[in-house]
Amino acid sequence: MTSNREKAIQFARENKVRFEENLIELVKIPSVSTDPEQKWAMQQTAEHLVRHLLAIGFKQAEIYPTEGHPVVVAQTKPDEKKLPVLLVYGHYDVQPPDPLDLWKSKPFEPTRRGDRLYGRGASDMKGQICASLAAIESVFSQNEIPLNIKVIFEGEEEIGSPNLAKFIETHKELLSCTYIFNPDAGLISADLPAITYGLRGLAYFELRLYGPSHDLHSGGFGGAVHNPAQVLCDVISKMHDSKGRVTLPGFYDKVRPLSDEERKEFSRLPVTDDYYKQTAGVSELWGEEGYTAVERIGARPTLEVNGLLSGFTGNGSKTVLPAYAMAKISTRLVPDQDPDDVYAQFIEFLKDNLPPTVRWEVTKMSGGPALLTNPHILEAKAMSRAMETVWGVTPVFKREGGSIPVAADMHEILGVESVLTGFGMPEDAIHSPNESQHLPTFHRGIESIIHFIYNLIEM
Ligand code: BES
Ligand code: MN
Repeated sequence: MTSNREKAIQFARENKVRFEENLIELVKIPSVSTDPEQKWAMQQTAEHLVRHLLAIGFKQAEIYPTEGHPVVVAQTKPDEKKLPVLLVYGHYDVQPPDPLDLWKSKPFEPTRRGDRLYGRGASDMKGQICASLAAIESVFSQNEIPLNIKVIFEGEEEIGSPNLAKFIETHKELLSCTYIFNPDAGLISADLPAITYGLRGLAYFELRLYGPSHDLHSGGFGGAVHNPAQVLCDVISKMHDSKGRVTLPGFYDKVRPLSDEERKEFSRLPVTDDYYKQTAGVSELWGEEGYTAVERIGARPTLEVNGLLSGFTGNGSKTVLPAYAMAKISTRLVPDQDPDDVYAQFIEFLKDNLPPTVRWEVTKMSGGPALLTNPHILEAKAMSRAMETVWGVTPVFKREGGSIPVAADMHEILGVESVLTGFGMPEDAIHSPNESQHLPTFHRGIESIIHFIYNLIEM
């Protein structure tokens, strides 16, 4: 006799085309959380998700307004309070599609080329939301299971989830759960599944420098008035030393060192420096001396300039001494660094290194601490076995350089650790032009989540 598990897998295989169409529909909505002009799209995406959740068999699905973008919460068995609960996390917001002219097809007109579906959010993380919902739908197509599945889909992850911790705090009962599945991390390559047990934290700043009261003729004033663009470049150039270390005072004080054991584990991952060169399209790597690329990204703190703005950047030339210069600068943090400490260090550094010729301001943007989860929890085992069944390969456990601030919040507020994975990979160009989801991996993801759910109830 065929088991429910096998029949659910069969259902997923028969519905591949429809599952891809669901992803296409979701990617079409331009849910860019940072763009006030796209506010309508946030609401529309939330409504679309609620309709979809109810259509595939969720008993309760609602939109909860917040001070920012709405949160969607749904559950399958709201009236059965005694069952174990699986909470699935997702974010339906995406990063801005810029620079637009580098896209081969339009970011919100999802297009299939070869094995991939191109569009903003296809991989990060609408693909992962759709894979989760497709798996849940496949499980629902069979007999009832003794598990209440809840979902929480937020619309502000890509801007640092400013309202989500408070939301979870005030809806603790609604979100109470036994396991949390967070598919917002990713795997290493299409043939190697991975479970993420570490994420870096983030402390993000905007630095604004004000020089003269208005833009000046660079011949009439240059050399006598300090140019804020130059001051900005000078100060940024001091943020790293010649060994690639960050120079904010005290930045490394609390950094938890890498153990020999962990370094050994890192060296086993099939991501060599050459792999990073190739995936990034650079001929040389750069970074903190004494660490490999995978260690620098997964386990060492870093500082990046995310954007610069000053003076004339249009076509042609303009001889101007700009009145203003701005930089977006972020640091990625590891355990046990504190984002508030890093903010204080950033201010301290600027006080020591900015000249009195400019006036300056700093705005603290998104942030959150790093996270290490226990890779031995039951739900991690359930996922690891599920992936092994689908890929025929034991998944690797890895630490990611990216951040998902809410994972730490959920652990703290709900008291439950997350199992973090996902079916995107480094080649997907997330946050970049021509983002795409590898569709064979999307379908393997769906099958993995089906096995994961059955493993959870059978373990
Ligand atoms: N899905 C990513 C995080 C990620 C990327 C995890 C790659 C694992 C591998 C997430 O959506 C993201 O990009 N988060 C932001 C958070 C920030 C805006 C607070 C990030 O890491 O930049
Ligand atoms: Mn994401």
